Amino acid sequence: MNGSKLRVLFVSSEAYPLVKTGGLADVSYALPNALRKLGVDVRLLLPGYPSVLEQLSLIEVHENIKLPPLQEPVRLLAGTMSDGITPVYVFQYPHLFEREGGPYQDNMGKDWSDNALRFGMLSKVAALFGSHSLLFKPQIIHCNDWQTGLIPAFLKFNPNPSVKIVMSIHNMAYQGIFSPEVVTLLGLPPESFSMFGLEYHGKVSFLKAGLYYSDWMTTVSPTYAKDIQITTYGYGLEGLLSQRKNQLNGILNGIDTEVWNPENDSCLKCHYSNNNLAGKTRNTQALRNKLKLASSKSAPLIGMISRLTEQKGIDLVIPIIPEIIKNGAQLVILGSGDKKLEENLLQLATLYPKRLSVTIGYDEELAHQIEAGANMFIMPSKFEPCGLNQMYSMCYGTIPIVRRTGGLADTVIDATPDNIEKKIATGFVFEKADSSELLSCVQRALQTFRDKTTWRRLQHNGMTRDFSWQKSAGQYVSLYHQLIKEKENAGKVLQ
Ligand code: ADP
Ligand code: GLC
Repeated sequence: MNGSKLRVLFVSSEAYPLVKTGGLADVSYALPNALRKLGVDVRLLLPGYPSVLEQLSLIEVHENIKLPPLQEPVRLLAGTMSDGITPVYVFQYPHLFEREGGPYQDNMGKDWSDNALRFGMLSKVAALFGSHSLLFKPQIIHCNDWQTGLIPAFLKFNPNPSVKIVMSIHNMAYQGIFSPEVVTLLGLPPESFSMFGLEYHGKVSFLKAGLYYSDWMTTVSPTYAKDIQITTYGYGLEGLLSQRKNQLNGILNGIDTEVWNPENDSCLKCHYSNNNLAGKTRNTQALRNKLKLASSKSAPLIGMISRLTEQKGIDLVIPIIPEIIKNGAQLVILGSGDKKLEENLLQLATLYPKRLSVTIGYDEELAHQIEAGANMFIMPSKFEPCGLNQMYSMCYGTIPIVRRTGGLADTVIDATPDNIEKKIATGFVFEKADSSELLSCVQRALQTFRDKTTWRRLQHNGMTRDFSWQKSAGQYVSLYHQLIKEKENAGKVLQ
């Protein structure tokens, strides 16, 4: 190990391609890779789910770690991501992680009843790294979302915390709320269960613990960093966030331009680029054939790939699907989540078999094919911490239609006459979370689609923008250095 390199432990509950339920997995793969390119010795810590154990070749690096209240000793395994770039530590404890189902829920969509213990223990293992009790001794622990929220709490009550802790918020809507008994169960001191600690309306909030005890907080876009300091978006934690606003900033997510690149995307039959879009048309045809939609040379194809939850605004889309179809468009929807929304969509699909395709489930390959084959991509989110699909869309020459919120506001530039003239427009943006505003926005996009010159300009603007991680990874590196410097200065004052 090069002693002069900045050492960072990046802790996440999911990482592409090992285990993924959403954008957190994409970020947990791409950001560490980008940081390593900048010379940071960043290593990932993940739970030992079956898919992680199967895909990586791992060796045991620590055995017999005692982690009360767990009965059996814990094992820590190590390997490298399959692309050979980022080293990974895996926390193995079969009883907690080796089971059939998703990382957070069973196959019926019900949260695992022992999630507090599962992710409390993940946090406890990470805290061992933080107190420099293991081989790798990070200077920074970078936590992500509620599943890692107890890391700063465990370290706060450790007499020798040797690290600085960054807590990244990918979504305020998920907080990890559990009954107060978990404080004792997990071995946290009773005084942590306070308004000035991890207590939240009489319960324990893992996310609040992370926000309260970390040294710095980031969110995944500058606008969301402001949004969450107001009631609607803060989910009850807006007060704490605004009190700590001087230790909170938004760093926009990037995208992995090797995984998401129409010039060499391994999920596509035809590749294309901004200089030659012929391949895009062939992807559109292939998508129509695959999903048995009516073949057409002129009908615009609108895509949507999403977790089917309230956040994503699918309830705004459903009532206007008949109208969108009447306007001559076809729709391709891929998603899973809320059972009621899934049913509504499937039912609509039976009414328009040649114009609406609904795939319920998780399908990485189809997601890439939709990004490449669709002409437009719809993302009418009620809130959106960052959002990755609108950026994938712009890179693929697929024009996003988004609501002005969070990261969508920060990445998509509305096709107003002025912005078109200035050659900066990349998509269509609407304000209010209601179906009629969304419909007007879709109609605006459909109308512009007929004007081939303007459409091509929008594609060009999106396809030539830099959405890579390089700049944002650099911002994280500056933040890490700033925190380490503060620690060193504090040390000097104490001496
Ligand atoms: P979020 O993390 O809130 O779900 P993001 O836009 O940040 O939203 O990231 C979502 C990621 O998950 C994208 O990579 C998207 O393509 C992927 N995704 C979401 N739903 C599906 C699905 N049903 N099948 C395949 N990929 C999906
Ligand atoms: C969350 C957010 C999404 C963001 C992703 C990665 O799941 O909902 O907006 O892009 O995390 O940061």
